[in-house]
Amino acid sequence: MANTAIIGTQWGDEGKGKLVDALAGNFDIVARSAGGSNAGHTIVVNGTKYVFHLLPSGLLHKEAIGVVGNGTVVHLQSLIEEIEELESNGLDVVNRVKLSDRAHMLLDYHKEIDGKIEELKGGDKVGTTKQGIGPCYTDKAMRIGIRVGEIRDTDALKKRIEENCEFHNKALGLKLNAEEELAKIETVRDRILPLITDTRRWINEQIGKGKKVLFEGAQAHHLDIDHGTYPYVTSSSVTIGGVCTGLGIAPKYVGNVIGITKAYTTRVGEGPFEAELDNELGEQIREAGGEYGATTGRPRRCGWLDARAVAESVLINGIDEINLTKLDVLTGLPEIKVLTSEGYKTFQGWEDDISGVRDFAALPAAAQHYVDSIEKMFSAKISSIGVGPDREALIFRK
Ligand code: GDP
Ligand code: IMO
Ligand code: MG
Repeated sequence: MANTAIIGTQWGDEGKGKLVDALAGNFDIVARSAGGSNAGHTIVVNGTKYVFHLLPSGLLHKEAIGVVGNGTVVHLQSLIEEIEELESNGLDVVNRVKLSDRAHMLLDYHKEIDGKIEELKGGDKVGTTKQGIGPCYTDKAMRIGIRVGEIRDTDALKKRIEENCEFHNKALGLKLNAEEELAKIETVRDRILPLITDTRRWINEQIGKGKKVLFEGAQAHHLDIDHGTYPYVTSSSVTIGGVCTGLGIAPKYVGNVIGITKAYTTRVGEGPFEAELDNELGEQIREAGGEYGATTGRPRRCGWLDARAVAESVLINGIDEINLTKLDVLTGLPEIKVLTSEGYKTFQGWEDDISGVRDFAALPAAAQHYVDSIEKMFSAKISSIGVGPDREALIFRK
């Protein structure tokens, strides 16, 4: 299998984590290139639910090595908590994580600033996850960010944090406390140090040895800082280019791009959503799909599939194939609509439970017709279809 990138084609929460987990057994390395704890990737194995935020979802496979790349923003205490939580489930994780020395350190004050900026924006707020993502990338772009590798020198780190707290206190009228930040970092310092790696060199060496990499996208095309519905976006490059900059690998090493597309649309936070169903039907889909944020618990806004949005993601990211997710959630709806460039197209629904189906030909005719029709709208082949949250609930099309 070629090195493969997994990219969300909508507004996040398409089910990227589930496909990463389903494919990870075929890869040696699973790597995150952008974002931070704003992501929430859910995996269900035999009824047990795991939620990944910073760590790559492929780590449930015992042989996989997880890379947190230079393009990410990392809250060190949260990373350790996530590792410990997985280890409490009996997995050996700490020896399989490589954290880039160039990833930016996300401090508690970034979360505080995130909240403050949203408050200042008032009615124009983005509806962020309040994980401090925007402020951490802002520090990076402002050239005052602190990188993970800087944890090695406590005295220098202390000075840097003090300077940044003073800077933000002046700029935003906050009362950030450098001592508290440092004390919290000290509690995890010894556990973070062994994880720190020049992941750019390491991953290129591994690729040179023929090891295979699965690039786990976070967020999604329409949340990308450049390509998304700006300003209602996240603060990083979560599209295909970000895979290369966020890990330091050349485009020639990304052999295959899989887009993840939910059979309908959801969005958390503010911003345009033309196909939104702000009504009982939207609520019905939310309940059927369990559409509550994996990171913030917020109810996700629900609506029909926007085929134009997916087609744009296919184009911009060079998507080779699509994993359609949550088709089972549409079961029981009398009719299903899809927003296209010519307005809404209406499809007949189906009644039969499809969660046990593993063969495309065994799907109800109306479900097959829906999949075949949207595939044409996307201009990309739908190569797999999710029919339930569990790892096994997938139809692979030949
Ligand atoms: P991600 O952020 O793209 O990884 O997606 P999330 O994990 O935030 O949200 C997707 C949710 O849908 C999770 O609760 C998954 O367990 C669930 N899920 C994924 N695929 C399917 C599917 O095919 N059917 C159903 N019913 N649930 C799914
Ligand atoms: P996964 O990887 C869905 C959204 C937030 C908000 C906007 C900016 O699970 O698909 P941020 O905290 O990043 O500054 O928020 O982006 N957002 C997501 N929505 N899934 C995600 O990740 C998201 N990550 C950020 O809700 O609208
Ligand atoms: Mg999610």
